[in-house]
Amino acid sequence: MRILITGASGQLGTDLCRVLTVHHVISCTHEDLEITDADQVRTVLSEHHPDVVINTAAYHKVDECESFPEKTFAVNAIGPRNLAVACRDADIILIHISTNFVFDGYGERPYREDDLPLPLSVYGTAKLAGEHLVRSIWKRHFLIRTTGLYGHSKGAGGKGHNFIELMIKLGKERGRVTVVNDQVISPTSTADLAQALSGLLTSDFYGTYHITNSGSCSYFDFARTIYEKTGLDAEVIATTTTAFGAAAARPLYTVLDNSHVQSIGIPALPSWEEALDRYLENGKCT
Ligand SMILES: NC(=O)c1ccc[n+]([C@@H]2O[C@H](COP(=O)([O-])OP(=O)(O)OC[C@H]3O[C@@H](n4cnc5c(N)ncnc54)[C@H](OP(=O)(O)O)[C@@H]3O)[C@@H](O)[C@H]2O)c1
Repeated sequence: MRILITGASGQLGTDLCRVLTVHHVISCTHEDLEITDADQVRTVLSEHHPDVVINTAAYHKVDECESFPEKTFAVNAIGPRNLAVACRDADIILIHISTNFVFDGYGERPYREDDLPLPLSVYGTAKLAGEHLVRSIWKRHFLIRTTGLYGHSKGAGGKGHNFIELMIKLGKERGRVTVVNDQVISPTSTADLAQALSGLLTSDFYGTYHITNSGSCSYFDFARTIYEKTGLDAEVIATTTTAFGAAAARPLYTVLDNSHVQSIGIPALPSWEEALDRYLENGKCT
């Protein structure tokens, strides 16, 4: 299969390029393809005529997005729209990545795909708009929601670090970090997510799916586990989302129920602790 990956130097993009080597991978970094440019999207797709496009490109500096709604919507809603139109016109399958931030986080059980999305932030609203545009434009799509991604590539100009690397850096520099204990997610390794996405390539059960590593934890527990596993002597102080006071509102409980994707034959991903062990064994970000 010919698979074109957008945002290819990002965390998920990098792991997809690595995992999908049995296929012909067309790796498009931000430099190669600007997804907000509809003409460029159409030209690049017609040059490479892929069978599948996987869109990992996003603008997801969640706090910054509050101040730049136009850019946030351009990248996270219009970009996927451009890809969906070009994929529809050339009959290409589109796999698009979305987020737990489409939910308000007031739920008390893992979110299912048909639970009502009610985003709290500009970022979440733009990602939800991107979902709606993809769904309404082109039926041969997989829309994947995931949470708390980390991978060995820190991406060209994305957040510049993932949560694990940030905790290690702050732990070394300061010896103590303050972390929220009321936001609960499933930290997810992009290596594992890429593996699951590769399994979707032969499926035609199009639609929306939640895919994360198994289990869940608060960011506070995640930080403590990172220090335990790395042997770093750093203290983790618990705080609340309200006290932390970030610019963008964050959903509190956004564990995602993965049973729908398992029902189409994609095996459950390993636990988040096991995935973290593997990440730490493989060394730092490149
Ligand atoms: N990271 C998380 O915790 C998380 C959680 C849930 C869902 N997600 C979703 O998962 C997907 C992958 O995330 P990730 O962590 O792999 O992101 P990432 O590492 O930041 O990679 C995103 C890539 O997209 C590129 N990009 C940004 N704007 C673009 C544009 N307008 N046109 C083309 N490329 C553009 C970036 O390039 P430059 O850096 O050069 O701009 C970067 O290489 C995204 O859809 C994200 O919303 C992420």
